[in-house]
Amino acid sequence: MRKKIVAGNWKMNKTLQEGVALATELKNILAAEKPNCEVIIGTPFIHLATVSELLKDSVIAVSAENCANKESGAYTGEVSAAMVKSTGAEYVILGHSERREYYNETPEILKEKVNLALANGLKVIFCIGESLEQREANQQEAVCKAELAGSVFHLTPEQWKNIVIAYEPIWAIGTGKTATADQAEEIHAFIRKCVADVYGAQAADDTTILYGGSCKASNAPELFGKPDIDGGLIGGASLKAPDFKGIIDAWK
Ligand code: 13P
Repeated sequence: MRKKIVAGNWKMNKTLQEGVALATELKNILAAEKPNCEVIIGTPFIHLATVSELLKDSVIAVSAENCANKESGAYTGEVSAAMVKSTGAEYVILGHSERREYYNETPEILKEKVNLALANGLKVIFCIGESLEQREANQQEAVCKAELAGSVFHLTPEQWKNIVIAYEPIWAIGTGKTATADQAEEIHAFIRKCVADVYGAQAADDTTILYGGSCKASNAPELFGKPDIDGGLIGGASLKAPDFKGIIDAWK
């Protein structure tokens, strides 16, 4: 049975003190009322060690939002997968459209990052998704398939067990425009088929595929109600504990 996950991606938000306050609030809320899914929070690098320690005995796992495509050495300002792992974080988000677009992360660079993350014992939340122009040209399937082929389909079946896919249509991120549940289900089913073509039906059935893009408490139940949508990767609505809890509750 594949895991159901609700994951937050704080992006470049929250000072250390604000992040600790949010993580503490979430920890207390979820200690009082156990979630029916795995809960992950993705935080900026500077929060990872403190928040991981804070959440050590909680149901919440911690993720980085990025890691370097080099192992170690003279790469000023970069943070390696080994460093992320040493904080206690379990996951790293890779392939986010904001990193692809603003920091020129190519499929080759992402492949290096994925390899290093897995080699260092991290699980990867790998993001894919088409732009508005690509959706209007009906290229969403080709784009998603190419992004998978370019950065993760070289992995062995054993490595694949540590991959979570997040489908995030770029036109839905931070825009308030959500893909309809039917639109999302259609492409999630396609993504699962692509996984099946490479790793077989059982592995595809075991792969968690998250939806991301203006997901909130009001639309999460319908999205998560679809057979191929296994949870969400949440930006804006992960920045306030009650909003994030509202999405977690969609699994109740
Ligand atoms: P929003 O939930 O703010 O649209 O962001 C989605 C996202 O990019 C998560 O990675």
